[in-house]
Amino acid sequence: MTQDELKQAVARAAIDYVVAGEIIGVGTGSTANFFIDELAKIKHTIKGTVASSEATAARLAGHGIAVFDLNDVESIAVYIDGADEINAGGAMIKGGGAALTREKIVASVSKQFVCIADGSKLVDTLGAFPLPVEVVPMARAAVSRQLAALGGTPRLRLKAGTDQPFMTDNGGEIIDVLGLQIADPVALEQQINQIVGVIAVGLFAARGANVCLLGTADGVKKLAY
Ligand code: A5P
Repeated sequence: MTQDELKQAVARAAIDYVVAGEIIGVGTGSTANFFIDELAKIKHTIKGTVASSEATAARLAGHGIAVFDLNDVESIAVYIDGADEINAGGAMIKGGGAALTREKIVASVSKQFVCIADGSKLVDTLGAFPLPVEVVPMARAAVSRQLAALGGTPRLRLKAGTDQPFMTDNGGEIIDVLGLQIADPVALEQQINQIVGVIAVGLFAARGANVCLLGTADGVKKLAY
């Protein structure tokens, strides 16, 4: 099976977690895109969605799926999204697609987080994937120094093909931190959250996944936390 077929398989499996008549939180990225395409087939069974990025909102709207502003929503039944890495405890690195802040906000108000990923995303120790940290642009250098002091190598994410900083949907910039071996994801998430100038860190540990659907050659495997 190709990686895309594995992603499609978990996207289809995630439909079982969609709650009829409710608002569904929808993540960002290639796996989430497959999920959106599956959700379109049952769109009349749900009340609507909250999107974790402008790109996801556009894809949902393109399918004729209602997209609500989070401020107009009281509760979200389930949040379904991909991950860049996930460990055996349900802690994740996310933000490869730069949507980490909105993803974290939507996840934080959702009753359940269902992670959908191909099997290559399951790791023993988080950190081989560079950890994304969204920052207020004026704090970029100051935050980078503090991230370096934590043992990582900070690298400013650039807009593809340019030497200009990549800008997020929120007007933030992304520092990718290389070379971290994250032994205690909850502690590191707290530590980075406390650096002034950080908007959000792509460690989803204090609020990790409740369920992970992993695509493997032997079928979709479910991990519950
Ligand atoms: C988006 O900012 C990310 O958190 C994605 O959820 C993550 O990068 C996984 O993306 P893929 O599904 O494209 O691998």
